[in-house]
Amino acid sequence: MADNSRRSFIGYAFGGFAAVGVAAALVPMKKAWDPVPSALSSGFTQVNLAVLEAGKLNILKWRGKPIFVLKKTPEMPSDEKRDVVVGDERFMVAIGLCTHLGCIPTYRESKLDFKCACHGGEFNASGVNTFGPPPRPLDIPPFSQNGNIIVLGEEGPEYHKMVAAIKGEAHGTLS
Ligand code: FES
Repeated sequence: MADNSRRSFIGYAFGGFAAVGVAAALVPMKKAWDPVPSALSSGFTQVNLAVLEAGKLNILKWRGKPIFVLKKTPEMPSDEKRDVVVGDERFMVAIGLCTHLGCIPTYRESKLDFKCACHGGEFNASGVNTFGPPPRPLDIPPFSQNGNIIVLGEEGPEYHKMVAAIKGEAHGTLS
């Protein structure tokens, strides 16, 4: 808790902290990316995972990039390397830009995956490329985690552990 308070103070002190309240910060998006005004600053962005609805994609803007945050349903395969885990819940947190040429993939709720309209690339619910030209999974933004709270822009131990696991698999590619 003390660590969390320190982070908040630092964030406010530098004026780059977007304390993203649940409703204000995470707006369920179906087809279009509509940046959330309260998350437009370029510093840290705090996200409360506890309030997310399973299977509904949330998109927020962080440092000019769309960030996908998806609470997985039981039907979605878990990914031991890429999932953000809170208790029994699993979340995908990824930069929502196709790793082919940077288009924003569309979430297909009925298929539990993502489709990139530009050249047909597909990603599963973990953000892993499964079809088409994307050369690697969706990139993961730096984050720290304290229970249900993640802070985008901070590199916490969970992030470093995830990067190490992914690098071991992908031979140095951070994705
Ligand atoms: S930019 Fe997504 S498949 Fe080409």
